[in-house]
Amino acid sequence: MKIKLFLIAFAITALTSNTFAGLKGSENQTGGDHPDMAWWQEARFGMFIHWGVYSIPGRGEWLMYQEHVPISDYAKLADQFNPHDFNPKEWVAKAKEAGMKYVILTTRHHDGFCLFDSKVSGFTSVKTGAKRDLVKEFADACHAAGMRMGFYYSLMDWHFPGVLPLGEPVSKVAMKSIADQAYAQVHELLSNYGKVDILWYDGMNPNDTLAWHSGELMAMARKLQPDILINDRSGLPGDFSTPENVVAAQSRPWESCFCMNRTWGYARYDRNYKPVHELLRLLTLCASQRGNFLLNVSPDGEGTIPVEQVEILTALGKWMKVNGKAIYGAAPSPIIAANLGMATRVGDKVYLMIQRWPGSTVPLAWCGSKVKSACLLSTGQYARIEQQGDRVWLHDMPEYPADPYLNVIELTFEGAPRSSEPAYR
Ligand code: GLC
Repeated sequence: MKIKLFLIAFAITALTSNTFAGLKGSENQTGGDHPDMAWWQEARFGMFIHWGVYSIPGRGEWLMYQEHVPISDYAKLADQFNPHDFNPKEWVAKAKEAGMKYVILTTRHHDGFCLFDSKVSGFTSVKTGAKRDLVKEFADACHAAGMRMGFYYSLMDWHFPGVLPLGEPVSKVAMKSIADQAYAQVHELLSNYGKVDILWYDGMNPNDTLAWHSGELMAMARKLQPDILINDRSGLPGDFSTPENVVAAQSRPWESCFCMNRTWGYARYDRNYKPVHELLRLLTLCASQRGNFLLNVSPDGEGTIPVEQVEILTALGKWMKVNGKAIYGAAPSPIIAANLGMATRVGDKVYLMIQRWPGSTVPLAWCGSKVKSACLLSTGQYARIEQQGDRVWLHDMPEYPADPYLNVIELTFEGAPRSSEPAYR
């Protein structure tokens, strides 16, 4: 029950954290003007990577808490953690192939295990089994490939004596120490690995911006990395919101993160993968509402991304290669086409994302400007256009859907696309 309440409180925090009414005094700040988010708004699609010592047993990243493992037992996992197959170049290449434009790695999850070298913790991949700074290797791979890179960092640290169980108050002394540790580690992460594009906080428990010095953290991050984008999970609005496993459009920049199956961290037997057409629907749903889609992969304890996940990435990449121009930089379309699926707008083009293929004639309505051309991206075929007022028929399209997942038709208009439907004019 307690866990449930905590999780609910947590979810609500995550979803509403752009409107923290309860912030006090100097903590009520985002750390200055928002940096330039143009690249992020263009990107629309990123990769999330949940990876840590919890990936060895393969029962998800909450294992330490959910199985009530004592700190000393859990620490043994760190000695076993020696990921021979870890090849961040390959991870980054897979993200690139999938059409993803940025990658966020869990540099430290709630269990407190750091994949980086830290002067203020012994629980790191450098000081235990692996004896490697895995974040450094990851950062180098991203920089070499020109891939935008983000660091996930959990504020809460279950490895710290006095922090568990959740839901009970953390003593003042422990709170000060973990907040100091967080400050020092964020400083390390933003000082030692070159350019960091995104700082992705999580795990703000207790939910108290004063206790975590969220304002100071924000100011420090902006000072060390002036262009960095910061999410909303340190209790301050930051630059973007982060709905989790749900598409929830907002009036500010937002990014929905999703599991491919049902867990973030590697779960050996979790085969509940979302089908490719569903992942494309989610990506499109985000893009059509000016949101980003952050899709998670969960490498195993050796650093191998499960084959099912690689297959999904490959399929997404194939689709993105042909249809990506409907996603990158996408914004809401004035023509909705709800009879067919969804639509995005990029510049002066409208992309119909057809989930329910209608056959060789594609009927469209509420077009307030003249449709000049319509091209089915997967085959390059142009439709014969018939337009009567705001009703349009795209003839000579294939009878059967050409793409097995999601078919995209690019519409070019005379002038800018406009809706004739009063609600969208
Ligand atoms: C939640 C979970 C965590 C996961 C994260 C991803 O905060 O506690 O396990 O990393 O969401 O958004």
